[in-house]
Amino acid sequence: MSEVPLAKEAADAAPPAEDLVVLDKVNKHFGALHVLQDINLTIKRGEVVVVIGPSGSGKSTLCRAINRLETIDDGSITIDGRPLPEEGRELARLRADVGMVFQSFNLFPHRTVLDNVALGPIKVRGQDKSLARTRAQALLDRVGVGNQAGKYPAQLSGGQQQRVAIARALAMEPKVMLFDEPTSALDPEMINEVLEVMQQLAREGMTMVVVTHEMGFARSAANRVVFMADGRIVEEADPHQFFDNPRSDRAKDFLSKILAH
Ligand SMILES: Nc1ncnc2c1ncn2[C@@H]1O[C@H](COP(=O)(O)OP(=O)(O)OP(=O)(O)O)[C@@H](O)[C@H]1O
Ligand SMILES: [Mg+2]
Repeated sequence: MSEVPLAKEAADAAPPAEDLVVLDKVNKHFGALHVLQDINLTIKRGEVVVVIGPSGSGKSTLCRAINRLETIDDGSITIDGRPLPEEGRELARLRADVGMVFQSFNLFPHRTVLDNVALGPIKVRGQDKSLARTRAQALLDRVGVGNQAGKYPAQLSGGQQQRVAIARALAMEPKVMLFDEPTSALDPEMINEVLEVMQQLAREGMTMVVVTHEMGFARSAANRVVFMADGRIVEEADPHQFFDNPRSDRAKDFLSKILAH
């Protein structure tokens, strides 16, 4: 780690450089529904945090708030020591720092796979076209779909499309990647190929927030599990402690239900 940015951050009295994403007393309502309630959460550089919890507990809203697809009512969210910008150019730049992969892949249907990955760097980062395409090809190779580069999304399997979506997010060189149930729309045989790519990213040191009910992934890749219920973080623990020995009744109840099927 270089000493220059550390010294600068110390001078600015910014939070320690190891804290990459910090949510401080974040609240969010949808009308009368208090969907995020006093959320305090710090994600360190290189950390993999799995967010788990019942349907409607606020997991997606939390992810969407982190890259400001949703506004928050009060509290603060900082990325790498900088508060989330309200709008405009700064917001676009921040969004580029936060990669997002959803359950539905959201690829551009009329663009080739290669163009889907190269487009962001060209349009948002102003990257040279041929450089962006070379990098896009390398990323597609990395996630195992390099030989699909010339096809259109509809010609790929769900697992392949989701790996393209991951490559597209990585192309922006994000500081943190958010995954919101990335495998839940996939046929069972395609889940593993996507989880494998995510495991590899985790091993390479990518900072990741992953909403998933994939216990195997949580156990082997997560540094921490955050359990949400009714808009609150009810429990935080390392994955082994959480799955083998949950403390709260809510977590025990939830785990007994998902382990039952
Ligand atoms: N745009 C919206 N307008 C109104 N209510 C919303 C909106 N988005 C989400 N909600 C509500 O907020 C609550 C939290 O939703 P959220 O999608 O964050 O839950 P979740 O934990 O991701 O659930 P799931 O596991 O089903 O994906 C739910 O009650 C949901 O119905
Ligand atoms: Mg959700």
